[in-house]
Amino acid sequence: MKDSQPGSHREIKKTQMMVYEMKVQDVMTREVITVRPDQPMSSLREVLRHNRISGLPVVLENRLVGLISLDDFIGWLAEQQKDCLVTERMSQKLEIMYDDDPLVVAIGKLDRTGMGRLPVVDRQSKALVGILTKGDVIRGLLRKLEIDYEEERLRHHYAGQILKEIQADQTALFFQYNVPGQDFKRAGTGSSRLKRTLKSLGVRPDIVRRIAIASYEAEMNLVVFTPGGKISARVQPDRIVLEVKDGGPGIENVDEAMQPGYSTAPEWVRELGFGAGMGLPNIKKSSDGFEISSQPGKGTRLKASFLLREQRDEAE
Ligand SMILES: Nc1ncnc2c1ncn2[C@@H]1O[C@H](COP(=O)(O)OP(=O)(O)OP(=O)(O)O)[C@@H](O)[C@H]1O
Ligand SMILES: [Mg+2]
Repeated sequence: MKDSQPGSHREIKKTQMMVYEMKVQDVMTREVITVRPDQPMSSLREVLRHNRISGLPVVLENRLVGLISLDDFIGWLAEQQKDCLVTERMSQKLEIMYDDDPLVVAIGKLDRTGMGRLPVVDRQSKALVGILTKGDVIRGLLRKLEIDYEEERLRHHYAGQILKEIQADQTALFFQYNVPGQDFKRAGTGSSRLKRTLKSLGVRPDIVRRIAIASYEAEMNLVVFTPGGKISARVQPDRIVLEVKDGGPGIENVDEAMQPGYSTAPEWVRELGFGAGMGLPNIKKSSDGFEISSQPGKGTRLKASFLLREQRDEAE
């Protein structure tokens, strides 16, 4: 089945792209003020007041065992009970992040849970390595914006001319990236390598961003739904054609899959913040030309093209 239609442009904000690429560890606070579970509740008064914070991870031998908030403390005060241990009042139902989780997942979790802070633990050792608040996210994004701006300004001096200076009747550069299926830890690697490559060729930043969104969404689909596939980009003087192929299982009804909000993502994927059914529609929106075809049992292939000059009327 096929779906083909020129896509309308969507403004993709730079910050949006950054949260796809950055990891929790890039923005989290590493010096975490913690308390022990065997500490008396009364001792929190000073810690909370002195540091002006509203919540503290409770840690025993490097391991996170709970979270105690200003609210917990006030609740305890209000009940005017005798002193007790932190462990008796802390909450043990913990929402945590791993330090190598994508930032986009953390932002989703901060939003969904309404939590002010998320403790960050090391995936292997499970030791507490940091804490993440919305403030950390904003500061981290601002820092990254500043660095990127400086890099872009420098690059402006030497890049951008390569494609224009090539003299030939036909020119194309071809890049290909392998994407293993189910490997969430490496998800997004192909797209960010492609993005960096296009940037260094001097492709216009807004176009790079649209291609990056499309390739990121397609890459996530490969990771979630298929045993793996390939992302490729063909850079021509007038356009860049992104092609994403996989080895199955294919899509039964492509028109249905293209509907915003349609998703067959399993629960565990949704818990990671994906599965809103917006991937394919976003790819289409961000591109100047979009085609998808799928053979159930065999695989799926999608093609998105991006015009480099103002030649939209010539788009397929
Ligand atoms: N490469 C693929 N192979 C098999 N099925 C796919 C593939 N890509 C998409 N699909 C199917 O199409 C549906 C819609 O895909 P889409 O990317 O729009 O949303 P999603 O991946 O479910 O959620 P989101 O992208 O918002 O995280 C998926 O839920 C899945 O059923
Ligand atoms: Mg998707």
